[in-house]
Amino acid sequence: MSPRWCLRSLRLLVFAVFSAAASNWLYLAKLSSVGSISEEETCEKLKGLIQRQVQMCKRNLEVMDSVRRGAQLAIEECQYQFRNRRWNCSTLDSLPVFGKVVTQGTREAAFVYAISSAGVAFAVTRACSSGELEKCGCDRTVHGVSPQGFQWSGCSDNIAYGVAFSQSFVDVRERSKGASSSRALMNLHNNEAGRKVGHALKEKFDGATEVEPRRVGSSRALVPRNAQFKPHTDEDLVYLEPSPDFCEQDVRSGVLGTRGRTCNKTSKAIDGCELLCCGRGFHTAQVELAERCSCKFHWCCFVKCRQCQRLVELHTCR
Ligand SMILES: *[C@@H]1O[C@H](CO)[C@@H](O)[C@H](O)[C@H]1NC(C)=O
Ligand SMILES: *[C@@H]1O[C@H](CO)[C@@H](O)[C@H](O)[C@H]1NC(C)=O
Repeated sequence: MSPRWCLRSLRLLVFAVFSAAASNWLYLAKLSSVGSISEEETCEKLKGLIQRQVQMCKRNLEVMDSVRRGAQLAIEECQYQFRNRRWNCSTLDSLPVFGKVVTQGTREAAFVYAISSAGVAFAVTRACSSGELEKCGCDRTVHGVSPQGFQWSGCSDNIAYGVAFSQSFVDVRERSKGASSSRALMNLHNNEAGRKVGHALKEKFDGATEVEPRRVGSSRALVPRNAQFKPHTDEDLVYLEPSPDFCEQDVRSGVLGTRGRTCNKTSKAIDGCELLCCGRGFHTAQVELAERCSCKFHWCCFVKCRQCQRLVELHTCR
């Protein structure tokens, strides 16, 4: 019995709720692991997969835990990048994971699609490179020198595998709908942009292009709504519909509103109390913050600190 097989069969299968009526594979991020001895069952019961993703799951069970990890990375990164904005990428325990906003053609949806397809490509590549997956592996015998003089070796094939897996798994949703609807075109475009730009995505969010579908010959394409804008590239994000302002709670859409959010009194940007609180004003409270202070180095070798309390003002939106 190979150690890897053992490890895989030991993994616990902990699913909060099983449900067939689901619409989004990002729900995998809510699971603590994917993997079991009985693959048929595992894939059939996963929430949020469409039928063709279930089939891919059955054929590639060992990759599914990386897909789950990719979804988690995407959500963590989204929450970090948007921590100071009105829409802060918080997830719901129901489907769709980010609420209705990402089922519409908004800028936020563009970002979520891009970052999650990037997350899957990244996580699968990393699992390949660390030897967790049998289907790919780092071939250390492959090496060379690039035209720019960089020495490289190993795992460029793993990147190709990670990207290809993300393309098949993430994009299949849009392709199965028939890639002619505007939303499918938008999602496919943003999925691909995510796999290309990775870490620069947040800037792409701010510079995303509003587009509309137009007939080009016998097919449809997305073109900028404002003719004065330069055409978007493969690496730019595109969206079809303006976003709501995210100010007030709207339970049906999964929008939490900004009441209670911490804001910055002196900032004029979106994290400032004026914009973040949508003009409703804010509360100010004194809170004590515990900090390490008066640290001394002792021979040899440790550092001893005192605990100090510091009073700070905390502003929260009304
Ligand atoms: C996002 O904001 C809501 C309130 O609007 C808050 O409850 C939640 O904790 C925030 N989420 C993150 C990830 O910061
Ligand atoms: C608040 O905003 C000001 C001005 O942009 C900035 O200098 C300061 O670091 C911010 N404070 C916090 C706690 O982020």
